[in-house]
Amino acid sequence: MTVGNNGKHGRRRSVNLPKHVHIEEDGPRDGFQAVKAFIPTETKIKFIDMLSETGLPEVQATSFISPKAIPQMQDAEDVMAKIKRQPGVTYVAITPNLRGAERAIAAKVGKLGVFCSASETHNLSNVRMTIAESLKGFEPIFRMAKDAGLRIRGGQPTAFGCPFEGDVPESRVLETARIYVEMGAGLANVLASMDVGATSFSSCVGGLGGCPFAPGATGNICTEDLVHMLHHMGIDTGVDLDKLIACAKFIEKEIGC
Ligand code: COA
Repeated sequence: MTVGNNGKHGRRRSVNLPKHVHIEEDGPRDGFQAVKAFIPTETKIKFIDMLSETGLPEVQATSFISPKAIPQMQDAEDVMAKIKRQPGVTYVAITPNLRGAERAIAAKVGKLGVFCSASETHNLSNVRMTIAESLKGFEPIFRMAKDAGLRIRGGQPTAFGCPFEGDVPESRVLETARIYVEMGAGLANVLASMDVGATSFSSCVGGLGGCPFAPGATGNICTEDLVHMLHHMGIDTGVDLDKLIACAKFIEKEIGC
C-alpha cells in the first residue's frame, strides 16, 4: 500500500505502507518499571489479562532482573503463574543475564527479550556490563532459548540517542545491532520506519514508561495512539481500540499516571 505525502521541499512522494502491523504492548514491564510505588501483583495480573483480550498478539508481561535493580519487578514469577494465558497471545519477559533466562523459562514465558544499549555508558548504567560483555552473555541465553524452543526479541536502547553520550554514531548502532535489529521511536518514526519496511512495533498503553537508568526518559509510544493512527491509515493491527482504551482507563485509575 502506498499513500502520497508532501516530501522534502513540498514535493509529493509515496510512502510504502504495510497491510498489517504487529504490536507488542510493553506497559506491564517497561511502563510499570518507571513507577516507584509497588503496584500490587493483582493489579498487574488484571491489567495483563485485560490487554490479552484486546487482540494484541504480544504482551511484555514482566522482567526477570535483579530485584535490587528494579524492585517493581520482584513478583515476576507470581505474575507469570497467575495470568490467564490467552491462546494466540505471546507473553514476553526481558532477561538481562543467564540467571534471568533460567527464571523466565521456568516461569514458562513465550519469548525471551534480551537487550544491549547502543551506547557504552547507558549499557553500564542499565545492566552494569560493557556492550562486549552483554553480547558475550547472549550466547548461552540464545542456546538455552533454542533448547527450550523459544524465540528471542532483541532490544537496543539508545539507538536513537543516549542521555549520557548524545548522538550515537550509526556505525556503533550497526555494530551492536549485528545480532538483532529492533526498530522503534515516536509515531512519526513509525511512519518513516514503515516506509523502509518495518512492520513490528513496541509501545505502552497510556504512553507509560521510560528507562529508570536513562535520565530524562519521557515514556514510550502510546499504544492507543499507535493503533488509532494505523487504523485510520487503513492498516490492520487485529487490536480492538475500545478494549485498549478501557485498559488505559483502568491503569490510570489504579496507578494514577
Ligand atoms: N534475577 C534475580 N536476581 C539476580 C539476577 C536475576 N536475573 N541477576 C543477578 N541477580 C542478583 C544476584 O544474585 C545478586 O544478589 P545478591 O546481592 O543477593 O547476591 C545481585 O542480583 C547482584 O548480582 P550481580 O551479578 O553482581 O549483578 P549486578 O549488580 O552487576 O547487576 C544486572 C546486573 C543485569 C542483574 C542488573 O543490573 C539488572 O537486573 N538490571 C536490569 C535493568 C533493567 O531491567 N533495565 C530496564 C531495561 S531497559
